[in-house]
Amino acid sequence: MRHFLDIRDQSGETLQGILDHAAEMKAALKSGASTAQPLAGKSVAMIFEKPSTRTRVSFEVGISQLGGTPLMLSSSDLQIGRGESIEDTARVLSRYVDAITIRCFDHATLTTLAESATVPVINALTARSHPCQIMADLQTMIERHGSLVGQTVTWIGDGNNVAASWIEAAARFGFHLRIACPDGYAPDAELLAWARGEGADVVLYDDATAAVADSQTIVTDVWVSMGDDEGTRAQDFQNFQVNEELMAAAAGDAIFMHCLPAWRGMEVTAGVIDGPQSVVFDEAENRLHAQKAVLAWCVGGN
Ligand code: CP
Ligand code: NVA
Repeated sequence: MRHFLDIRDQSGETLQGILDHAAEMKAALKSGASTAQPLAGKSVAMIFEKPSTRTRVSFEVGISQLGGTPLMLSSSDLQIGRGESIEDTARVLSRYVDAITIRCFDHATLTTLAESATVPVINALTARSHPCQIMADLQTMIERHGSLVGQTVTWIGDGNNVAASWIEAAARFGFHLRIACPDGYAPDAELLAWARGEGADVVLYDDATAAVADSQTIVTDVWVSMGDDEGTRAQDFQNFQVNEELMAAAAGDAIFMHCLPAWRGMEVTAGVIDGPQSVVFDEAENRLHAQKAVLAWCVGGN
């Protein structure tokens, strides 16, 4: 069974193969060539417990382009919303569909679904990780910088679900990763220990300017993720805004990345996200191509 639950579950070789396939499918789509339809005659259920623009639309379009039928299922419309177990939902859906994607609050919902399903399950974001986002981001980095080898990526802000998947990617691809966050918002210590045990070069900073020096990729995300309390975050993150001054302290050819949705004036200034170094809409586009390659690997057998 080929689930795609987290970056850490796959070898670097498997992930690179998926990224290569994503680049091939992107080129084929752009050239108008007819593309393979590994999902022909197959259906994919997409469960969402939280809102989504990119993930929902890119999966729905991607499944259709691969010849499959997407089924959009809001958890509030399913019997899960009335208390039916995840296990029973997984067993039932597995009798109808060929794969399940899920966006949920609790990471355990994803893993329970995967344990009970008899079809592949794909993580479409949990409070702990967002692997499909990072596949699209890696594709974007390769497009812009030619390779991941020797690159330095700097994450600014909250040590959240997206940061966690970047840490896992650093362990699998060997780029250098710096993480600058305010006190109390560092990524999970166990995850950092795991990544370093796998040989990842991940360094924590408390100063954003020091963290971006000579870095070619600057990444940030919202200060308040879905399901988080706003609390004192706006004050806590004040010195962790990606603005023009911070970008000027990075490498001259640095790109700016953000998974979106973004809050201009909070984690990033309009000048940066709408400026020449920003690749945020390439990242959003690559969600389509990267996820098609993930689907082809999980369901289509390539
Ligand atoms: N980046 C991302 O996952 O966006 P959505 O929440 O719109 O799916
Ligand atoms: N960290 C953000 C990512 C949204 C795509 C969140 O979980 O809300």
